Amino acid sequence: MVVSLSRRGDVEPFHAMDVLAEANRLKAKGVPVVSMAVGQPSDPAPAGVRQAATNALKMGRIGYTDALGLAGLREAIAQHYADHYGLAVSPGRIAVTTGSSAAFNLAFLAMFDPGDRVAIAAPGYPAYRNIMAALGIEIVEIELDGDAYLHAEHLKAAHREKTLKGVLFASPANPTGAIIPADELSALVTTAQELGIAVISDEIYHRLAYAAPDSTALACGPDVTVINSFSKYYCMTGWRIGWMVLPEPLVRPVERIAQSLYISPPELSQIAAIEAFKATAELEAVKARYAGNRELLMQRLPELGFTLAAPMDGAFYAFCDVTRHTNDSMVFARKMLAEAHVAATPGRDFDPLQGHRAMRFSYAGSHDEMVEAMMRIERWLR
Ligand SMILES: Cc1ncc(COP(=O)(O)O)c(C=O)c1O
Repeated sequence: MVVSLSRRGDVEPFHAMDVLAEANRLKAKGVPVVSMAVGQPSDPAPAGVRQAATNALKMGRIGYTDALGLAGLREAIAQHYADHYGLAVSPGRIAVTTGSSAAFNLAFLAMFDPGDRVAIAAPGYPAYRNIMAALGIEIVEIELDGDAYLHAEHLKAAHREKTLKGVLFASPANPTGAIIPADELSALVTTAQELGIAVISDEIYHRLAYAAPDSTALACGPDVTVINSFSKYYCMTGWRIGWMVLPEPLVRPVERIAQSLYISPPELSQIAAIEAFKATAELEAVKARYAGNRELLMQRLPELGFTLAAPMDGAFYAFCDVTRHTNDSMVFARKMLAEAHVAATPGRDFDPLQGHRAMRFSYAGSHDEMVEAMMRIERWLR
């Protein structure tokens, strides 16, 4: 037997999945686990989205679309930039993708060559690191060391050490929920542009900010690549549908790669996603529930000795320093699950260096679940 294994395939596993697998095993045995581990809304997609999908299924013929997506959806996304940000974006610059995860593959392949150095913040979303590693891109992890978000000075320092080709950041961020304030975002993008560093802005948690309006990096210039998705605010994780706004010169390269990698994003999800922008009332009600959960956790987590490691500005996460309780958040998470039946995500996936000191709590679940989880943790710690 000859099995060829590439070095590029040797990426880190998603360690949190071990905790999730254990939570699912306990649930299957009838243990009433409260999960604060998953980064997905507990609500279904909006009614209009589901109705559009039902209608399309009745018509029956779901096929390939243009590699960059249905014209109607690209236009609806362009309209969203006008409505939400007051920005004119041509539908021709929009690429619809199979979740933002596919957008990362396409952006990295179209923008970087093996060996190029691309900066990301630590803590940060682990797939950035893992996809880049699989593509042979050199990852430069900038440790935030207590700063809430990446800013221009971080970028300058990393670039001084060795030239960067790109930078990728998310605001609001996973796992911290931190938001880069509008003026800092503008300084970060301008600095990158002055230094010749290409910018990718992951805006998947936009519309989930609790204090300030959303700022898109796109407002800082047309050469920024923006990635977004219907997964989070729009409650459509399983529909696998996202998008990119591309600088003009990247449109054709992305289209060529997308044609061969994916042929097209799923048509059913594209038809349905057009309706998502019309579901604001329904989705704002979901967001209001997150806001209530956030208030509760902002008070309860510090009371329980989980110090907030970043402000809970957006998304649906609290990222906490857990050193008052443990120096190994992986062991602590396993114990909390086994004994208190509350699942949360250990920090190691988000930050290989400092993650053992941290844990991420998702508050995308119901309010009752959050109240129950805090009570169980309190009892357990006593
Ligand atoms: C910051 C961030 N970006 C991207 C994704 C991927 O989302 P999707 O592929 O469902 O669009 C996630 C998922 O958790 C995320 O947290």
